[in-house]
Formats: sequence, C-alpha cells, structure tokens
Amino acid sequence: MQGIPAPAPGDEHRPRDEPLAAYEHPGLSASGGARADTGPGEGVDVALTDGTSVHVRSIGPDDADALRAFHSRLSPESIVLRFFGPHPRLSDAEVERFTHVDGVDRVALVAERAAQLVAVARYDRSTARDEAEVAFVVDDAWQGHGLGTILLQHLANTARSHGIRYLVADTLSENFRMLNVFRDAGFARTFTRTSEVMHVVMDIAPPT
Ligand SMILES: CC(C)(COP(=O)(O)OP(=O)(O)OC[C@H]1O[C@@H](n2cnc3c(N)ncnc32)[C@H](O)[C@@H]1OP(=O)(O)O)[C@@H](O)C(=O)NCCC(=O)NCCS
Repeated sequence: MQGIPAPAPGDEHRPRDEPLAAYEHPGLSASGGARADTGPGEGVDVALTDGTSVHVRSIGPDDADALRAFHSRLSPESIVLRFFGPHPRLSDAEVERFTHVDGVDRVALVAERAAQLVAVARYDRSTARDEAEVAFVVDDAWQGHGLGTILLQHLANTARSHGIRYLVADTLSENFRMLNVFRDAGFARTFTRTSEVMHVVMDIAPPT
C-alpha cells in the first residue's frame, strides 16, 4: 500500500468556512450516476475487486436494525477510525439521523451482501452550499475489496448532481486506507495536516 504523498507545490488548501461536524457522520451516497432519489428498495449491483457482487442503494428508515447490527460487527479499530474514539453502540438518536436522509443535502448509501449491510457511506452538505462532508465505514471483513473506492465515486456523482463542488473529510493522519481512497479517486485534492488529523478537500467538478 502506498503512502500519502506530500501536497504538491501549488496544491494549497482551500480555506474552510467553518469547522465541519466530522463526527456526526451524515449521509452516504453512491453509485456512479446513481439517482439521488434511489430508495431503499432500489439501487445497483457492483462488482468488488475480487469479483464479488454487492448491492448498493440509499439507506432508509427500515435499515435501523441492520445498521445497529452492522455497527456491532465493526472492530474497535474501525470504530476509532470512523468516530475518532470508542463508540461501541449507536444511540437511538444517531440511528434515527443516519437512517433518515433527504437524498439531496444528506445522502447515505449502504452496500448489502447476503441480507447484511457491509458498508455505509454518507455526505452532509455544509453551510457552504457547494461543499459536503463525507464519511465511510466498511465491515472489517470487506475492507480492501474496493468498496470504499466504489462508494466514493457514487457519492461524488450524487453530490455533483445536486450542485456540490467539494467533498471534504477529516481523517486521522494514520488512516492510510481512507487517505489512499481519496488520493486515488482521481479528483484534484488537497491534504492539510493538523496534529493528528488530515483535512482533505476534493474538487469533484467534471473535467472540462
Ligand atoms: C477506510 C475505508 C472506508 C476504505 O474502504 P475500503 O473498502 O477498505 O477501501 P478500498 O478497498 O477501496 O481500498 C483503498 C486502499 O486501501 C487499501 N486497503 C484497504 N484495506 C486494506 C487492508 N485490509 N490491508 C491493506 N490495504 C488495504 C487498498 O489496497 C487501497 O490502497 P491502494 O489504493 O494503495 O491500492 C475502510 O477501510 C474502513 O471502513 N475503515 C475503517 C473506518 C474508517 O477508517 N473510516 C474512515 C473515516 S473518515
């Protein structure tokens, strides 16, 4: 696995308007060209790097129990990388917030395999209307199979269709997997390190 390169000359950081709620982990979104209004019963099948097929769709209120179960299967390490600290259980308020999205300003995508959630990715539009914060978590057993990469592309397509230009994330500096996904996504991006956190800004504007 490659490391994260230092920002290239001129790869300066775009000023942020305000601190983002990095740990509120809003919505996921997905699927290349996926419709933002894709409901829980719809979605697309995608192939992982090992050829396994998983189903990607928008999250819905009926996913509450599956989301709790998914979270309970995560390793403590994955939880820390996602929530920046121990978080063994999702509160009822979190489950409510995570499973209720509007498909425009808050988008959340899930990947399913054999009737279980195996990944969740989401974005929340910030008060800067052209910017949204993304967050990802993949079941430990499914990490390294391309899911994070696929979900980022789907989220970017959905975000772009709703007028979002920049996807941002605050990621622990040690989280090379997440940073590699951002690095390899093909978007113009900046990485700005502050102490233990890397702030990433990806410009998802379509190439001209
Ligand atoms: C970070 C995360 C979302 C990435 O999703 P993923 O499906 O594992 O990522 P991908 O399979 O698309 O791979 C991305 C990169 O990480 C590498 N990678 C992923 N899992 C790996 C593993 N278990 N061992 C070694 N490398 C791994 C891939 O090889 C790839 O690197 P490359 O581009 O240099 O080849 C996922 O690993 C995860 O949920 N981690 C815990 C929670 C977390 O960190 N969330 C992010 C909070 S901002």
